[in-house]
Amino acid sequence: MRLLVCGGAGFIGSNFVRLRVRDHGDEVVVLDKLTYAGRRENLADLPEVPLVVGDIADREAVDEAIGDGVDAIVNFAAETHVDRSIAEPDAFITTNGQGTYQLLEAARRHEVERYVQISTDEVYGSIEVGSFTEESPIVPSSPYSASKAGADLLVLSYFHTYGLPALICRGSNNYGPYQYPEKLIPLMILNALHGDPLPVYGDGMQVRNWLYVEDFGRGIGHVLAHGTPGEVYNVGGPDECPNIEVVKRIVELTGADPSIIEYVADRPGHDRRYSLASEKIRALGWEAQVRFEEGLERTVQWYRERRDWWEPIRSGEYREYYERQYGRRLS
Ligand code: NAD
Ligand code: DAU
Repeated sequence: MRLLVCGGAGFIGSNFVRLRVRDHGDEVVVLDKLTYAGRRENLADLPEVPLVVGDIADREAVDEAIGDGVDAIVNFAAETHVDRSIAEPDAFITTNGQGTYQLLEAARRHEVERYVQISTDEVYGSIEVGSFTEESPIVPSSPYSASKAGADLLVLSYFHTYGLPALICRGSNNYGPYQYPEKLIPLMILNALHGDPLPVYGDGMQVRNWLYVEDFGRGIGHVLAHGTPGEVYNVGGPDECPNIEVVKRIVELTGADPSIIEYVADRPGHDRRYSLASEKIRALGWEAQVRFEEGLERTVQWYRERRDWWEPIRSGEYREYYERQYGRRLS
C-alpha cells in the first residue's frame, strides 16, 4: 500500500511507520509539523521514508504530501498530552479539530480508499468497574479528550454524509520506545535513572490499561486491512495497573531508591480509571502479544540504551515545561 501517515514523526506514528515499512513493505509518506513531540530522529533508521514538514490544518501542505495519490491516510497527528491541554488548550482545538477536518476534506478530494483516525479511550471518560465498548457514550473530561471526541464525531459524519470510507481506532494508554518523556512511563524511567523525584498525582490509585506500542500498530494494521468503514474499533492493552504500582516497578527495574517517590497535587478533572473491551477487533484476528511486565522491561532497557535519543530532549524545551508543570508541586 501507499500510505500517508500524519503525525508519523511522533511516538506511536513512528513505531507504526517502522512496522509498515519493515513487515508489510508499504510505501509511506509522513506529514508532520515537528512540534516539540515530533522528531526527525524518530525516523532516523528509515531513510527511505519521505518526511513532509507541515501542518495537517494547512490544505496545501496536505495536498503536497498526498502528491499523485495514496491508498490510505492514517492520522496520528494531534496534540496529545492531557496536562498541556489543561494549561493551554488552544493548539488542541486547532490541530485535533481543524486539522482533522482538513484531512477529511483532502481524503474526499483525492478519493482516498481508506481513512483511519487514531483516537483514544479517553473519549469515553472514566469508568469505575467494567469496560467501555464501542457503543458506550462519549463523555470526555479534559480539553484533550474533548477535542479528540469532537474529531471522532466529525470523522463519523463524513462517513454518514459523504460516504467517506473512514474508520476509527480507539487505543488505550501506549508505552514503549520513542515516547516523549512528558508521559508517565518515560518520565518516571528518566527521573529514576537520574535519582530525581517521581511525582505521583493524587493517591496514585488511578488505573490505566497499558498497551505496548507495537501491539497498537498491529491493531491499526488489522483495522486498515479488514475493518468496516463507518465503524469504531477499541484497541485495549492486556493489563491494567494502578499508577503507583507502575512507578514502584520502574523503581525496581532501574535500581532507584524508593524514597524518591513523591505524592504531589492531583491533575484537575483526573479520570480515575480507563478500561477497554476489545472483542470487536479480536474478531478481526488481532490479539495483544506483549504483557505489561515484559513490555515495561523492554521499555526500561530501551531508555537505558538510548541516551543519545533522550539527552537532547531533557536539555531543551522539556526543561521549561517540566519546571512549569512540576516546579511548585515538588517539595
Ligand atoms: P505524540 O505527541 O508523540 O505525537 C504527535 C505527533 O503529531 C508529533 O509528531 C507532532 O509533531 C505531530 N503533530 C502535532 N500537531 C500537528 C499538526 N498540526 N500537523 C502535523 N503534525 C502534527 O503522540 P502519540 O502519543 O504518538 O499519539 C499519536 C496519536 O494516538 C494521537 O492522535 C493520540 O491522540 C492517539 N493516542 C495516543 C495514545 C497514547 O497513549 N499515547 C493512546 C491512544 C491514542
Ligand atoms: O488513554 C490514552 C491516553 O493516554 C492518550 O489518549 C493520551 O494521548 C496519553 O497522553 C495518555 O493519557 P494519560 O493522561 O492517561 O497519560 P499520562 O502519561 O499523562 O498519565 C498516565 C497516568 O499517570 C495518569 O493517571 C496521570 C498519572 N501521572 C502522569 C504524570 C505525567 C502521574 O501520576 N504523574 C505524572 O507525572
